[in-house]
Parts: sequence; C-alpha cells; structure tokens
Amino acid sequence: MKVSLRVNGKKRKLKVPPMKRLLDTLREDLELTGTKEGCGEGECGACTVLIDGVPVNSCLVPTCQVDGCKVTTVEGLSRSKKLSRLQQAFLDHGAAQCGICTPGMVMAACALPKGASLEEIRQGLAGNLCRCTGYMKIYDAVGAFLGSKTEPVRGAKGGTTVPVRSAKGGAKGGSQ
Ligand code: FES
Ligand code: FES
Repeated sequence: MKVSLRVNGKKRKLKVPPMKRLLDTLREDLELTGTKEGCGEGECGACTVLIDGVPVNSCLVPTCQVDGCKVTTVEGLSRSKKLSRLQQAFLDHGAAQCGICTPGMVMAACALPKGASLEEIRQGLAGNLCRCTGYMKIYDAVGAFLGSKTEPVRGAKGGTTVPVRSAKGGAKGGSQ
C-alpha cells in the first residue's frame, strides 16, 4: 500500500504493508529509532508519538491509519541538533536513567497544557511506565517545562518539588 504522511514536518511517501505497525515503519523504513519498543502491546507508552498532535502508542497503530496524517516523533522536537527545552528539562532534573521510557514520556508531555497541575501531569503520563527513574523527577521536569508553580514535597529528599497550580485555558505546551 502507498502511504503519504508528514513526519516531523517532512512529506514522506512509503510503500508498506497496510497493517505494518507504525512503530516499525518509523524505525525500519524511516530510520527514526528514537521511538522505542517496550511491551509491544499498548501497555507501557515507550512507543508514544503524536498523530495530529494527539499522543498514541505507535505499536498499536497500523501504518494504513496514518495516511494523510501528521506524525511527530522525538526526533522532531530538537532543532539544529540542540535538545528542545522539554528534553533539556529531563536532563536537568535527572528524569532519565536507562532512557527507554524517555522518548515516550517526552512525547506524552508535549500534549499537556501550560501550567498543568501535578494531577494533570500524572494523568497525562499515566500510560507511560518507567522502571528506573523515580516518577517525581519526571513530574518535576515536566512541571518545570510547563511553567507549573511548584512547592516542596513533604519529606522528599533534596527539596524535590511538584507542580501545584491548575491549568488555565488548556493552551498547548508550545515549543518543546
Ligand atoms: S511498546 Fe507500545 S505501549 Fe509498550
Ligand atoms: S529511565 Fe529507565 S525506564 Fe524510565
């Protein structure tokens, strides 16, 4: 099947089996290996990409479904080989260790509104599992990027902070 889509701002035309997973099309046909496979069953979020701005598990999406769509992968966030502000926030807050979950976390975070509360961040990342980093560091990184107001977590080591303000207006996260 011929599929035409826009990936990270570039038009791409592919000939692929219609039911080939988008995850495999991205990694094998487009060499965008930043998107990771964890469970392969829609349970871990490691393969999260944006389709028309909405976070989805690319391991569950047949490539035929993205014909005519805009797909954004983690590679699409950085500009001129510089990390995006969101990616840099993960580094600055120690929110990435083995890194398998990180691209999926980052892509899910892209869809969160500016100033999101901790609860909104938790819910937005609920489908993304991390087996090695404390989730608070991830929430801290995302909260810092989104400009959420923060306050110290009671009893947290090293003055860990969490976002506390509710989102206003539902604006998108802006430049990631
Ligand atoms: S690899 Fe897709 S959700 Fe786990
Ligand atoms: S950093 Fe290793 S799974 Fe999240």
